[in-house]
Amino acid sequence: SISSEKIDLLIYGPARPILENGFSDHFVVHTAETRGDLERLTPAIREKIRGVAVTDHTARVDKDSLSQLPKLELVSSFGVGYDHVDAKYAAERNIIVTNTPDVLTEEVADVAMGLLICTLREFIKADRYVRSGLWQTQNYPLSVGSLRDRKVGIVGMGRIGQAIARRLDASLVPVVYHTRNPSKDVSYKHYPDLIEMAKAVDTLMVIVPGGASTNKMVNAEVLKALGPRGVLVNVARGSVVDEAALVQALKSGTILAAGLDVFAAEPNVPDELKTMQNVVLLPHIGSASVVTRNAMNQLVIDNLKAWFSGKAPLTPVAE
Ligand code: DGY
Repeated sequence: SISSEKIDLLIYGPARPILENGFSDHFVVHTAETRGDLERLTPAIREKIRGVAVTDHTARVDKDSLSQLPKLELVSSFGVGYDHVDAKYAAERNIIVTNTPDVLTEEVADVAMGLLICTLREFIKADRYVRSGLWQTQNYPLSVGSLRDRKVGIVGMGRIGQAIARRLDASLVPVVYHTRNPSKDVSYKHYPDLIEMAKAVDTLMVIVPGGASTNKMVNAEVLKALGPRGVLVNVARGSVVDEAALVQALKSGTILAAGLDVFAAEPNVPDELKTMQNVVLLPHIGSASVVTRNAMNQLVIDNLKAWFSGKAPLTPVAE
C-alpha cells in the first residue's frame, strides 16, 4: 500500500474535478491550471511535488514547467498522445512519463470511421435539409462520395490505426498504410513513401502521433497526389497536416473533402474552413464520451498510485 507519508501531487491543466477527487487519501493535491499558476506556487511547495497528473493535452508540460519541479518522479498524462510533454527532457532527468493508451482505441477508431462516412455521405447537409423543411419541397441531392468505391491509405498503423483498419475491413474497403517501417502486426500493403501511397489511394486517414517528426507531413504535395476525388480524415493532431495547404486544396478542388477532428491551434479553427461545405469539423472529440474519458482519468490516477506504492507504472511511454 501507499506509504503513510503523504505525497505532494500537482494536478496540471484545465480543471477536471474527477481527477482531483481521485487522490483523496494518500496525496496532498496542489492544482495549477496554467503555467502562470504553476509559477505562483511557492518554491517550498514546488520543491515537494513528486508527481504530476496532467489533465488535458492543452497543458504544456515543457522543459520550463518541468524545471520548476526539482523532485519530480512521474508525469501521468491524460490522453494517448503526449506531444504536449517534453518526454525527452523528462527522460534526461529520469522522470517517468505515462499516457492513457488502449482504453480509448476503439472510441477514436469509431470517430474516425463515423467522420469518414459523414464526410462522404454529407450527413450534416442532410440534417440541415430535414430541419429546414426542404424535404417537403425539394429532392435531396445525391452525395458525390460513397464508401463503396474507396481505397483508404492509413497514415500510422499503431493501435488506433489497426482498429480503423478492422472497421474498414468489415465495410469491405481496401486498406493500405504508410509508416516509416512496416508493422509486424498487420499484413496490409506498406508504403514507405507517403506521396506514393497518396497516389495509389483516394482517401487518407491520419492517425500518427503529433510532434516534430510528423509536423506538416500531410502537405501540399501529398494532397495533390491524393487528387480530385481525395478525402482526408484527421483524428490525430492538427500539427500533422499543413492547414494552409489543406484550405487551399479544398478551395481549389485539388481534393474533394475533409473530415477533421483536430486542428493546429485548437480551439481556433481557420475561418475559411468554417465557410466550406465540403468539410466536417469536430471539436477534438475522438475519445470524448463519458465512459472513455472516465477510463482515461482512472488510468491517470492508477499510474500515479502504482508508482507511489512502489510498483511499476502501468503505461509508461517509450522514449
Ligand atoms: C488523445 O488521447 O491523445 C486525445 O487526443 C485526447 O487528448
